[in-house]
Amino acid sequence: MIGLAIHEAGPEASTEVAALEASSFDVPWSVDAVRALLQDGLTRAWIAAAGGRPRGAAILRVVAGEGELLRIVVHPDDRRHGVGRALLRAVLSVAADACPLGVHLEVRASNVAARHLYARQGFVDHGRRRDYYQAPREDAVLMHWRPAARPSGADGLDGENLTPGAENSALRG
Ligand SMILES: CC(C)(COP(=O)(O)OP(=O)(O)OC[C@H]1O[C@@H](n2cnc3c(N)ncnc32)[C@H](O)[C@@H]1OP(=O)(O)O)[C@@H](O)C(=O)NCCC(=O)NCCS
Repeated sequence: MIGLAIHEAGPEASTEVAALEASSFDVPWSVDAVRALLQDGLTRAWIAAAGGRPRGAAILRVVAGEGELLRIVVHPDDRRHGVGRALLRAVLSVAADACPLGVHLEVRASNVAARHLYARQGFVDHGRRRDYYQAPREDAVLMHWRPAARPSGADGLDGENLTPGAENSALRG
């Protein structure tokens, strides 16, 4: 996506994050819920924007050197253009220092898009929670990433500046 830029955002971005939530989740987090998270001192968020419009967001909580990826979401109109990958790479570039114990997450077993995204950026499966999700009931797959597991040239984007705040015009799409 041309002109895609990733920046870290604080509680002032709660409305943008909640709008992305509403575009994509059956049970989206409200503006107030997002704001409370981003004010808790442990949780960080990144926004991907292009053409002055938010395209995606990611939320990471860091506790005692371990991260939990709470959300990653791309607006349905902007999927399959590398936005999710750019967001996750920006998050992991911060996690490489902030999360020496790595980053973990849970994902619906049927969420092929998210599982593919995570696996391509070095997350590995390390367990399953039966019937973890409701409506519909479904297992969660547990995935974990360690700084040393970051891919090297796996998708041809190595060397590009994907740090938060950096403009990335070379993403596909
Ligand atoms: C998961 C999600 C964030 C991916 O965002 P995206 O911008 O479409 O992903 P990208 O275009 O950056 O693709 C990243 C990788 O995932 C793969 N991928 C994306 N969507 C896919 C799909 N539907 N099926 C298979 N693979 C898919 C891409 O091919 C790409 O793989 P590559 O690195 O091998 O080329 C997006 O689908 C989404 O917002 N889903 C709804 C919210 C959600 O389920 N979030 C996760 C739980 S919080």
